[in-house]
Amino acid sequence: MTSIIQFRIPTGEVRKVDAADGETVMRAALSQDIPGIVGECGGELTCATCHVHVTPEWFDQLEPASGDEEDMLEVLDDRTEHSRLCCQIRITPDLDGIEVAVPEH
Ligand code: FES
Repeated sequence: MTSIIQFRIPTGEVRKVDAADGETVMRAALSQDIPGIVGECGGELTCATCHVHVTPEWFDQLEPASGDEEDMLEVLDDRTEHSRLCCQIRITPDLDGIEVAVPEH
């Protein structure tokens, strides 16, 4: 099964990417060269180069961030109440259509 992830990039354009269930949003972004998602640490929660702002209606459907993710989010200048590190968001059928915005860096 695959689900659609919608990435709103800083130009305002929305790019749709197919992601396999179980894949992280970060991996899906890298596979399609979504600008602004670097994923430097490979999902080890040490870089925060996978920061996104999740659309509020989708944010509430995510598993809460772990303590380690919270620690990384805390140091970001452009953190909002809907910030997540997208290497920690694993796609499930319930998340089909999820929209995330890539902050300007
Ligand atoms: S890829 Fe490094 S924290 Fe997400």
